[in-house]
Amino acid sequence: MRIVVGSDHRGSTLRHKVIAYLSRLGQEVIDVGVDSQNGVDYPDVAAEVARRISGSEGERGLLICGTGLGMAIVANKFPGVRAAPCHDELMVEIARRHNDLNVLCLAADLVGELLAIRLIDVWLQTEFEGGRHARRLQKIAQIESNGHYRK
Ligand code: RB5
Repeated sequence: MRIVVGSDHRGSTLRHKVIAYLSRLGQEVIDVGVDSQNGVDYPDVAAEVARRISGSEGERGLLICGTGLGMAIVANKFPGVRAAPCHDELMVEIARRHNDLNVLCLAADLVGELLAIRLIDVWLQTEFEGGRHARRLQKIAQIESNGHYRK
């Protein structure tokens, strides 16, 4: 699986650890950075990763900032991207089963390496359930294409 990975300055240490882990798993990693001493604005990184997922240059995206929140807000502006910050395994599992979460946002300030790896394992191993959840994702896609939604 091609996984596009990006972080801001707060997430860069965890990003390197996570990339090493993904590489050990044999996943294809596209690393968009960023390693900046001066800080980098999370919208720049989130947009770079989300643009690639939206354009099918990667199947999954992994975004890391201090909280995961800013990254998720930006990434969800891109059609076809379903991003959320998740800090526990159950949340990741449900986000995969129900929401087909294709961009996982991690909080480097809250989540250590071991937990991050557990979250990533669940995210990679859990399948989307489809069925009624697919119908709901189609409604999200309709909002993306029309800019509005009517039931
Ligand atoms: C950067 O200071 C911080 O705002 C960022 O890493 C992230 O937490 C934003 O949501």
